[in-house]
Amino acid sequence: MNSITLIPGNQTGDFPKGTLLLDALMDMGVIIKTPCGGKGICGKCRTRVTGELSRKTGAEKKILGNETSDRLACQARLSGDTCVFIDENRLTSRKTYPEINPDDRFAVAVDVGTTSVNLSLVSLLRKKTFDLDAFLNPQRRFGFDVISRIAAANDPANRRTMTRQIQQTIFNTMASALKAMNIPCPDIERIVFSGNTTMLYLLFGLDVSELGRYPFHAPCLDFDNFIPKNIGADLFPHTRISAIPAVSAFLGGDLVGGLTLCHEMGFTENIFFIDLGTNGELFLINGAKNIFAASCAMGPALEGMNISWGMTADDGAVTHAWIDSEKLAYKMIGKGPPVGLTGTALIDIIACFLVKGFINKNGAFASELKHRLLPHPARYSDRLTPKQICLWNDIAISQKDVRNLQLAKGASLAASRFILQSAGCPADEVRHVLIAGAFGSHLDLDNFKGLGFIPEFPKADYHYLGNTSLKAAGNACFSDNFLKDAARFRDRVTEVELAKNPDFTREFIRALDF
Ligand code: FES
Repeated sequence: MNSITLIPGNQTGDFPKGTLLLDALMDMGVIIKTPCGGKGICGKCRTRVTGELSRKTGAEKKILGNETSDRLACQARLSGDTCVFIDENRLTSRKTYPEINPDDRFAVAVDVGTTSVNLSLVSLLRKKTFDLDAFLNPQRRFGFDVISRIAAANDPANRRTMTRQIQQTIFNTMASALKAMNIPCPDIERIVFSGNTTMLYLLFGLDVSELGRYPFHAPCLDFDNFIPKNIGADLFPHTRISAIPAVSAFLGGDLVGGLTLCHEMGFTENIFFIDLGTNGELFLINGAKNIFAASCAMGPALEGMNISWGMTADDGAVTHAWIDSEKLAYKMIGKGPPVGLTGTALIDIIACFLVKGFINKNGAFASELKHRLLPHPARYSDRLTPKQICLWNDIAISQKDVRNLQLAKGASLAASRFILQSAGCPADEVRHVLIAGAFGSHLDLDNFKGLGFIPEFPKADYHYLGNTSLKAAGNACFSDNFLKDAARFRDRVTEVELAKNPDFTREFIRALDF
């Protein structure tokens, strides 16, 4: 075993030789932002260390150079005893927080996604919410989707680790953000969570085994009045902690939250809703106000993960791309050269390349790509493995990246067609298409529609609602009525069970082409 000592504080922990520094620090409750998901491209996990670690990787040499002893926590592995210097300001959170009125009363809303976790501060007097922080779900190392997390949780030690990590990361992030705003943790009146059923179960330490086993039963669907110290929230001893109720093993509080929010906004019939994420949630309310809902695994590509140069919407991330006078133009967050692509940029790039014929309808790179004139500075390389279209600097998309986006698109389109069919609702009866997801303002609806993520709705208007799961958790902080309404809507949902339907796979394959 190798030991790590944190400075300041002298907290120590022992880990097997070869443990990734990031995993070890996470286990010790140190939250490190990892916008690129540990690919070694963003440099945000840079950490000051002394002691024995594996040799610097190529990615580290490129970002850090040879001179410094700093390391990238996502690359360095323990090879002996190590001291890690913790600079809270740099490692944990955003640098600016909302201006607050000290006389206000506060709550916190949390969207626990399979890939990303988002927090907002809720001002109970001003009835406003403010973005607080966002980070990748530390459980990702146990698998990208809910099914692999459930499988990993079959081992009780894994389940305990997943629960401890998500609790620690959320409550520690919350505590450091509140400290920066001079709000004492015990003053937080409420914390409301939203998320899919598996994420809520893992957060609250509930057994997930039945969620992944036929007949996919979820024994607990309501989440309220947890004793804070029983769920790792010791810093919030008087806070009421609850979550938006779930429908079933596959339909969680994020879907119910979106449903309730849409009703509050006046969308009550002839609507189609889809929440895009690693897990996609959809519902359809027909003209008779019957509610049908389904969920599907879309993979993490839209959230910038599992793609070669993917990252979350952080400094250095390209969020939009388009072709302008034979040039591949882009918009990014922050200054300096771009370092990675968000899921929305991937959508834009593939949509543009599809229109220009660089990518075929079936998602393959065009065979004569070598001879095609790509927009400057993009170039095709079949000498690299895998074959890539290089975009800016080293940033590239590979054939596999396109395939990963296709998997998300295929699942989304097939699930949408199934739900329309189950509801007996032709697409032209839908009046409002509501699209949700944690993309901020970055999703280009035309490109999204152009790639065929959802069917054509010829008479509908389209609305992008942002992160409805987080907004719903925020609204639930304002009033208990929101949670009561959510439970009422939940009871009206007819679940369209895709996992049990043998025709879904056929429909999914049919839906893969652009
Ligand atoms: S998370 Fe380590 S470089 Fe991006």
